Amino acid sequence: MIVSPSLLSADFGCLKDSLRMLDESRADWLHCDVMDGVFVPNISFGFPVIEAVAKLSPKPLDVHLMIVDPDRYIGRVRDLGAMFMNVHAEACTHLHRSIQAIKAAGMKAAVTLNPATPVVMLEDVIADLDMVLLMSVNPGFGGQSFIPGTLAKIRRLRELITVSGSSALIEVDGGINATTGAQCAQAGANALVAGSAIFNAPNPKEVIETLSSLAS
Ligand code: DX5
Ligand code: ZN
Repeated sequence: MIVSPSLLSADFGCLKDSLRMLDESRADWLHCDVMDGVFVPNISFGFPVIEAVAKLSPKPLDVHLMIVDPDRYIGRVRDLGAMFMNVHAEACTHLHRSIQAIKAAGMKAAVTLNPATPVVMLEDVIADLDMVLLMSVNPGFGGQSFIPGTLAKIRRLRELITVSGSSALIEVDGGINATTGAQCAQAGANALVAGSAIFNAPNPKEVIETLSSLAS
């Protein structure tokens, strides 16, 4: 299982220590949640913070943009050295164009779906995607409860990926812990984002290890 810890739940006063801990852990990627206060009702952090993070950490960046019209920032995200640029299907008027532009900029393209957006929305672009990020909470805040209906959605997405011959990975974000993570793994997820379950734990590395050992 790929594990992508969400920095949103880290202590921003000692980000350097958190990044060192993650570097020493089995975490695969760093999940960076960018919020604009418009697409979601919260504001998190932006490019200057992620630039600093990128300098301090060797882990690939998994950038999740919860912002309107994310195409405006493709060049900025590329300049961060991001591996994945995740854009919300609900925030892109011309999703096909956004996906092509992300790939043309040299990044892997991921599309994120809100809990209310059905998997079928991706039928005509799934072959072009490197990853689909399914939100298992309504985006905007860490520490929310996993929406159980996500499990059936993972299975529907797995079926779409198989039928279309796409090589897209399935990532799940929101309310992930050892229990919900195991359920997602069983349903067919390849990657798990976890914020509060990791950073609020007495031993974050152990939680990462547990998630990482889940068979997908
Ligand atoms: C929520 C963000 C998540 C968040 C997850 O909008 O996209 O990445 O940090 O936090 P937890 O794991 O606490 O639900
Ligand atoms: Zn996220």
